[in-house]
Amino acid sequence: MNQRRTFLKTACKPIVLATLGIPLIQACSTEDDSLENADIDSLSGSAPNEPLTLDLSSGSFAALLEVGGWLNYTAKNILLVRISEAEVRVFDNKCPHQGNRDKWSYNGSKFTCGHHNNSYADTCSGSLTCYKASLEGTILTITF
Ligand code: FES
Repeated sequence: MNQRRTFLKTACKPIVLATLGIPLIQACSTEDDSLENADIDSLSGSAPNEPLTLDLSSGSFAALLEVGGWLNYTAKNILLVRISEAEVRVFDNKCPHQGNRDKWSYNGSKFTCGHHNNSYADTCSGSLTCYKASLEGTILTITF
């Protein structure tokens, strides 16, 4: 009996009415659901729209001080590679194959996704989504 009361208190009203033989078309949604969805969207990895500025001289980005250095900055979902003294290229780290964002490696001209070993050129005309990046000294500004 207590289980039935608990069910009736916690179940979506349309479901309760349907179990009683009263059909009703209504989504079982509340405003709280939309807040949860917004939170999920912000965690799902879409790149921020505002420009991002990184100081390459800080320890976390030191790999980008050397030509050929690269890193997968998972907090911002971007792959970065130092192409030359004057250029750092920045890509969305979402694999074009199935969308995984981890297990990247770099061989000096291509990124390889370790999930199925597909490789992608480090050019902005390839399959990886390329973002505009400008480098002034050790300050890198990325525009999404
Ligand atoms: S998900 Fe990257 S190669 Fe398949």
